[in-house]
Amino acid sequence: MDLKNSYYEFYGNSDMTGLRYEQLRKIMEEAGEKRPAALKKADEAGNDWYQSEKMIGMMLYVDRFSNDLAGFEERIDYLAELGVTYVHFMPLLKSREGNNDGGYAVSDYLMVEDKLGTMKQLERVIGLLKEKGIRTCIDFVLNHTAKEHIWARKCLSGDPDYADMYVMFQEDTIPKEYEKALTEIFPGVAPGNFTYYPDIQKYVMTRFYEFQWDLNYKNPQVFNKIVEALLALANKGVDIFRLDAIPYMWKEPGTISMNMPQAHKLIAMMYQIVKEVCPSVIFLGEAIVEPFEIVKYFGSGERKECNVMYNASLMVLLWNSLASRDVRLMTRSLAKDYGIPSDGLWINYIRCHDDIGWGFEEDILRELGCDPKMHKQFMIQFMEGTFPGSFSTGELYEFNPQTQDARNSGTLASMCGLEQAVNEKHLYKLELAVKRILLLHAVIIAYTGIPLLYSGDEIGQLNDWGYKEVKEHAADSRWLHRGKMDWKAAEKRNDLSTVQGQIFVRLKHMIHIRKANKYFSACYKAIPVVTGNNAVFCFHKEDKMLVLANFSEYEQWVDSQCFDWFGLPGEMKDLITGRFVRSYDNRIQLGPYEYLWLV
Ligand code: GLC
Repeated sequence: MDLKNSYYEFYGNSDMTGLRYEQLRKIMEEAGEKRPAALKKADEAGNDWYQSEKMIGMMLYVDRFSNDLAGFEERIDYLAELGVTYVHFMPLLKSREGNNDGGYAVSDYLMVEDKLGTMKQLERVIGLLKEKGIRTCIDFVLNHTAKEHIWARKCLSGDPDYADMYVMFQEDTIPKEYEKALTEIFPGVAPGNFTYYPDIQKYVMTRFYEFQWDLNYKNPQVFNKIVEALLALANKGVDIFRLDAIPYMWKEPGTISMNMPQAHKLIAMMYQIVKEVCPSVIFLGEAIVEPFEIVKYFGSGERKECNVMYNASLMVLLWNSLASRDVRLMTRSLAKDYGIPSDGLWINYIRCHDDIGWGFEEDILRELGCDPKMHKQFMIQFMEGTFPGSFSTGELYEFNPQTQDARNSGTLASMCGLEQAVNEKHLYKLELAVKRILLLHAVIIAYTGIPLLYSGDEIGQLNDWGYKEVKEHAADSRWLHRGKMDWKAAEKRNDLSTVQGQIFVRLKHMIHIRKANKYFSACYKAIPVVTGNNAVFCFHKEDKMLVLANFSEYEQWVDSQCFDWFGLPGEMKDLITGRFVRSYDNRIQLGPYEYLWLV
């Protein structure tokens, strides 16, 4: 369906829709005219560049990484040294003062946060990155704005053009109706989904923090204004938009107002617009929901939505396998076919700036003889570090004393045991922790999709307990794993006698191999294999490559007959070490946390 029909179908056939559609067209036309020639040139090649084996991402907060954009310029070489080819700048658009949920309360889409620099500087940085073959991703927060945003101000001042930009009510009847069915996102720090403001005598929908006002997409003006901002940012050279919190975009009283069909239609229209105005740009959808709901955001058939989505399942399954030394849940869950379209791709990550919520396939857990509730408790306590024998050091996030439910916070290295090992000055534990860090990376770098690293994890940065001293952060344990980049520690990155060196050098090497080998491109789908050994995760890439990963600290053996079809018994070469792997007595040996990329 063309854009006009989609728009009319969505907003209804009325004079108002006609007027708004004309305005949208004008926004698109103007953005097209203003699009710089170099970007138009890049547009000619289309948008399938993200399918390449060369794609490796790193996410970072500019202030935590390099203080500001000027400082960032000096660190571009560091990213290039590691082999990064796309940088995800965590929210850097102007956000409200004080607590702003890590920048997710935007007060101006067209300005960069003062303390980070200016839009001109951002444009320059994007250009410098491009010269190094590094693409740029930015967060685009489109479900809500800060309550200080000009749209909110104008809306409250009675400007008719800005009426109904937000979900707000004079009386509490509809809010109450909503509350019956809505879940809470931040029950501890920001309970409820509406906030009553006595000064304006209104109930405003605030599903995240109180200061994040939910936009009302029932009003086409909201859609138009958001598109206008998106296209302006695309013209600065942004390649990837991380569309924040998309499951929440459409709200309807009496429903949980998540993953609604209308949210999908809105994104599909945005995709159509981008395809027309800036066709080299892609969408990364942030929908940390159940796997069968996540895949819907890739769109279907002609109706495309997002090009890439976060593989939240793989992320939780990796931690689950590490904690339980049992990969069966991972193998079975990943083998499920959710019908990802052939051009849809995962972003594979081990942790991000957010907490980890333990969403597992409960049916599979039951098949394995686990009680889902008890298993979740095991994961919560294990990652917090309170489960006996746990190697992890972390914290709870949004703990609910009534249900004992919680999510977890912590850096990759701390949750892999590095913090405990350092505190105990325990060299053997340290060795194991480094192995775990590398093992998890070896899986996400080899799995089909784009690996996304979190800045600092490449040198094993530990939890930042100092967040408790910062007033705006103290109540939100996600700041535990958003510490400042330790550049002093990073200087040791090429010294193999240090933890930093052992992680950085090996990671860099794996990245190098990935970029040089087409089996790591999107064309080769990862297919999980049951090895018969519960501690060994295995997948192949359409018969071309076999990945084995031992998720336990003990030596493991795998029956090589599982891989008859792959050319065993015989010799296979491990791409990482270059060594030839043979089977002994029809068995392959794997050392503690060892991983092999076999061809
Ligand atoms: C996304 C972000 C999270 C933020 C929320 C509200 O889920 O990842 O950090 O709190 O959106 O914008």
